[in-house]
Amino acid sequence: MSESSYQITLLPGDGIGPEVVAEGVKVLKAVGQRFGLSFELREALLGGIAIDTTGTALPDETVRLCQEADAVLLGAVGGPKWDDPQAKVRPEQGLLGIRKALGLYANLRPVTIHPKLLGASPLKAERLQGVDLLVVRELTGGIYFGEKGRTGTGADESAFDVCTYSVAEIERVVRAAGEWARGRRRKLTSVDKANVLETSRLWRSTTAQVIRDEFPDITLETMLVDACAMHLLRRPADFDVIVTENMFGDILTDEASMLAGSMGLLPSASLGASTPGRSTRMGLYEPIHGSAPDIAGRGLANPLATILSVALLLRYSLGLDEAAQVVERAVEQVIEAGTVTADIADPGEQVCSTIEVGDAVTEAIVS
Ligand code: IPM
Ligand code: MG
Repeated sequence: MSESSYQITLLPGDGIGPEVVAEGVKVLKAVGQRFGLSFELREALLGGIAIDTTGTALPDETVRLCQEADAVLLGAVGGPKWDDPQAKVRPEQGLLGIRKALGLYANLRPVTIHPKLLGASPLKAERLQGVDLLVVRELTGGIYFGEKGRTGTGADESAFDVCTYSVAEIERVVRAAGEWARGRRRKLTSVDKANVLETSRLWRSTTAQVIRDEFPDITLETMLVDACAMHLLRRPADFDVIVTENMFGDILTDEASMLAGSMGLLPSASLGASTPGRSTRMGLYEPIHGSAPDIAGRGLANPLATILSVALLLRYSLGLDEAAQVVERAVEQVIEAGTVTADIADPGEQVCSTIEVGDAVTEAIVS
């Protein structure tokens, strides 16, 4: 394989997933054209569509195609069709399964504000001045992956979800967060619920030790998750890097997306340990939003979160920082020009379709 050819596996998934991934693919192709790179794209099944086709949410073939790739671009999974609480297989198992199978323990969710979109956020514009934060969400442990089940019957029936974290799991994600903080404003907020949860007490003490021993240049603050939910609205610009466990990170990043104005704007990168000697670093890139079945197939979905995920893919997995910047600048131009979907359009402003927004970004890249 020549140096400038990359293998990307696409997991469009369900709902609006295929629509937004199609726009991401257009953007990749435009980047290829502009920089003389070639992307070998292979599509695989994940989530509800995989259940319908193969009976499982994560076919072995999908895992293999992801393992062989330099990076993975994912849309979203799930929908009412597969929501039966009695169902043995669920689309979300595919998503959690692929994150785990690829060892992607650090999920980066950056939040920045575009000046033209200040009005799209429910927060007052002055609160949003200077917001530039990065949530590092632990992605392969905690309550998402613990034993779960039911016991008893009738009124005695009960359900459980076990939350477990090991020192090693906490250390590696805190190290990742420490490294990211080093490249930024060197402030790390570790979020937990140490006043109640044993896993959080281990999280807190382990984090303190890693930062004290290995990152003396980083300022560490610890915050309870309920207080963090409040401070994200009260003084969002004070945060630099937030590191937290799987479920808290899930919840806080939906909240944080409202700073930017829409779930449809937030990209994410899921990374594992880098492989020594490899020039690319395996990662999975996906918008933080879900499959939005209510708007699927109607051209309403905002493709920018996926397109910005493509930028992160170029930067973190392929080391193509210049290409990533070109994509990010193209997105800025398109927002500036008002070529946006309904979720971020000003009242009375023209509303564009998913495809029109993707086309505008593509044009800005190649021109
Ligand atoms: C996310 C999503 C997923 C998660 C769901 C779809 C399982 O909400 O990526 O934030 O909880 O991780
Ligand atoms: Mg979520």
